[in-house]
Amino acid sequence: MQQARPRFKRKFSLRWRGRRWYDPNERKVLWSSLCFILVTALVRLLIVGDLLLYPTPLAAKIAPSRGLSGTAHDLSATGLNHVTASKEVCIFCHTPHDSPEGIKGSVPIWNHATTSQQFLVYSSPDLKGIIDAQPVGPSLACLSCHDGTLAMGAIHELPIGGGQDDYSQATGGVNTTTGLMEGTGRIGRNLSSVHPISIAYRDDLDKSLRPPSELQGVHLYPSNVRGAKVQCGSCHDPHNFGIKGSTAPFLRVTKEGSTLCLSCHLM
Ligand code: HEC
Ligand code: HEC
Ligand code: HEC
Ligand code: HEC
Repeated sequence: MQQARPRFKRKFSLRWRGRRWYDPNERKVLWSSLCFILVTALVRLLIVGDLLLYPTPLAAKIAPSRGLSGTAHDLSATGLNHVTASKEVCIFCHTPHDSPEGIKGSVPIWNHATTSQQFLVYSSPDLKGIIDAQPVGPSLACLSCHDGTLAMGAIHELPIGGGQDDYSQATGGVNTTTGLMEGTGRIGRNLSSVHPISIAYRDDLDKSLRPPSELQGVHLYPSNVRGAKVQCGSCHDPHNFGIKGSTAPFLRVTKEGSTLCLSCHLM
């Protein structure tokens, strides 16, 4: 016959195959609570799915938001490239009403004149994805200011109070008379020296590309699926300058340690 144990000893003890996981009487409190934290963390990871995904060396290091105000893309009275006395910021790219045809469809309520230049596109015998004969959609939006052929104030709907073409106080790269981009921001029409854009993302043909489901931070157009396109906005977010004082402007992912490049490329 077994001796009955004193009741108090069993009071807080949790047993599994004879092992005690939590037993204040044996001073295992610290050890068992560590086990508890570890087990719950593993369970949570499994539920969220992190453990089941392909291992990636990246934490999604999305540049902390600094927004649009006060940046090079703020052409309002308070912005770096002050071209209007108005405080409206979005108006140089979007309008809530009467958006002209332009590049509707791919850029929401677009309000800037759209470039009609012919570009020299990137070409290389190694490219697997098909590159468009001319850049399309969201990249055309960027090039409408960055090719240097259209004035910043070449917009459809005007800001309240007008003055969208007063460039006398423009700073940096914007010409104070013509309102054309002339500084380092001017990409021009030669895209052969820019990372390929308007190109289909074919991770099935180019095995050094991550599967689209793994992409973090970067963005394919219209969405992160095979065959969707890399555009300027895949690497840049025109609304978020990113880290203050950084030399990497409007990036979706930091370029530190080539994190941006490794977001898509596996090498
Ligand atoms: C310098 C040009 C520019 C300015 C200024 C700008 N946008 Fe945009 N915006 C774009 C472009 C280009 C796109 C198209 C998609 C892309 O590339 O992300 C876009 C897309 C959007 C979208 C669709 C969602 C998305 O992120 O793709 C929203 C919403 C938006 N803009 C809101 C705003 C608001 C609000 C402002 C003013 C605070 C603003 N934008 C100012 C260029 C601009
Ligand atoms: C309405 C005109 C306009 C449009 C549209 C526009 N930009 Fe800009 N962008 C500017 C101006 C002005 C500057 C400042 C150029 C300078 O000072 O040299 C600038 C600067 C930049 C810079 C450099 C910022 C810096 O501080 O060095 C990047 C990157 C950039 N734009 C990316 C984009 C991308 C990507 C798009 C499209 C999604 C876009 N821009 C659309 C006007 C525009
Ligand atoms: C593959 C990613 C990627 C794509 C696609 C891309 N950029 Fe950039 N861009 C960058 C990086 C990274 C920098 C920062 C370069 C540096 O700091 O030396 C940059 C810098 C810039 C600058 C600042 C001036 C300069 O030349 O350094 C502008 C303006 C710019 N990009 C506009 C564009 C436009 C417009 C497009 C589309 C035609 C585009 N970018 C496509 C990654 C990209
Ligand atoms: C949004 C995804 C994406 C990002 C971010 C990205 N790339 Fe790419 N890159 C591509 C795609 C797609 C191709 C075309 C691959 C193909 O079809 O062969 C490409 C092609 C290239 C090529 C080969 C060009 C050729 O002639 O064969 C090089 C080199 C390259 N990228 C370098 C970079 C560098 C450097 C960065 C970081 C600044 C970068 N990429 C960021 C998607 C990306």
